[in-house]
Amino acid sequence: MAGNIKVIVCPDAQSVARSAAGIFAALIRAKPSAVLGLATGSTPEQTYAELARLHREEKLSFAKVSSFNLDEYWGLDGDHDQSYRYFMNTNLFKHVDIRPWNTQVLNGRAANPFLECQAYETKILSVGGVDLWLLGIGGNGHIAFNEPGSSVDSRTRLVSLAPSTIAANSDGRFFKDPAEVPRCALSAGIGTIREARQLLLLATGAKKASAVAAAVEGPFSPDCPASLLQDHPGCTFIVDKEAAAGLKAPRN
Ligand code: PGA
Repeated sequence: MAGNIKVIVCPDAQSVARSAAGIFAALIRAKPSAVLGLATGSTPEQTYAELARLHREEKLSFAKVSSFNLDEYWGLDGDHDQSYRYFMNTNLFKHVDIRPWNTQVLNGRAANPFLECQAYETKILSVGGVDLWLLGIGGNGHIAFNEPGSSVDSRTRLVSLAPSTIAANSDGRFFKDPAEVPRCALSAGIGTIREARQLLLLATGAKKASAVAAAVEGPFSPDCPASLLQDHPGCTFIVDKEAAAGLKAPRN
């Protein structure tokens, strides 16, 4: 099964971001009402900055776009500065003309997480599915908060974070102390993500090299959730040289 994922290797993180933003911009220009799947974390920050620049300087309009974010910490309000709703507002939404009511981020304080997740899946279906979903990858191979062991057909649900994810997210970039990191999150499932027409996973830095190699060249296995994208017909990874360092097969 390994081998279906297309890998583009860029010289550095800035060119990963430019190339990813270019793919999003081309989609939005071809289909102004595109349905975007979005991600949070350090990796997509530069991509969002480039999309904001394209809006400001090159008239890229998000006025008809709708968006779905991968996940949200369980227990955090959207105005908490570590919530993913807050991240999206500050890194992208407030810099472009996307309509707030067209942006879907799971509610980490929903009264009923099951109903919240069901409503999110229903909303994706009601707009005709996601055209292009941006993804990051954890050092443990997770996509969204689908930690190792998640099933290929998992749906949006309340999940527990792996200890390695709690450690990665409390290294000072986001939370300063592991005790501050919520233990659970609402996360789009792997089955949910796989239904997007195109998938674009970004990875930068040496810390991602082994996860990228396992996802692209390892077995199709829940041990590395990103490997469960290998049989998707439209999955591309854009990685920098450091994140590509573990790949055996030569790439571009
Ligand atoms: P990062 O997170 O972009 O902050 O490295 C990616 C992920 O854990 O999915």
